[in-house]
Amino acid sequence: MARLEFKGKKYTDPSEIKSIMSEYGIPFESWGVRGTSGATDDKIIGIYKPEIDKLMRERSYQTVDLVALKKETPNLDVITAKFDKEHHHIDDEVRFTVEGEGVFEINYTDDERMKFTAEPGDLIVIPAMRRHLFYLTDKKNIRCIRLFKTKEGWEAIYEKVS
Ligand SMILES: [Fe+2]
Repeated sequence: MARLEFKGKKYTDPSEIKSIMSEYGIPFESWGVRGTSGATDDKIIGIYKPEIDKLMRERSYQTVDLVALKKETPNLDVITAKFDKEHHHIDDEVRFTVEGEGVFEINYTDDERMKFTAEPGDLIVIPAMRRHLFYLTDKKNIRCIRLFKTKEGWEAIYEKVS
């Protein structure tokens, strides 16, 4: 279940989180947790197929895959250092968390960010061009479904476009 910190307040109610985030153009959905422990990537994509297919149709995504980061991942610090500085992408960043957790800080003004902690069952879409950063929690573990229009669109761009 997602957690949101925004303008000094903390939220855990998914419908409240959905309503706040949608005001800022950030889709959030609770797909729920379904026995994915130990499942292969293909199996997990099958388990969430109805939701994945719907999102692909609605937002024109072309591909789907899974990504996993954990303590044992080689060069974990190097990988996470790409995303823990403010950046944007020219494609949406679409993440459905299957296991573990991670934190997205998303700009809603140039000076302030909303802090969204993604947990199993949570789908978030950070729209293209929206400045944000991402880091793991102390658990150092996350496994996510990702959707893309093009994988090239998902390179991190650190410089602000004015
Ligand atoms: Fe990103």
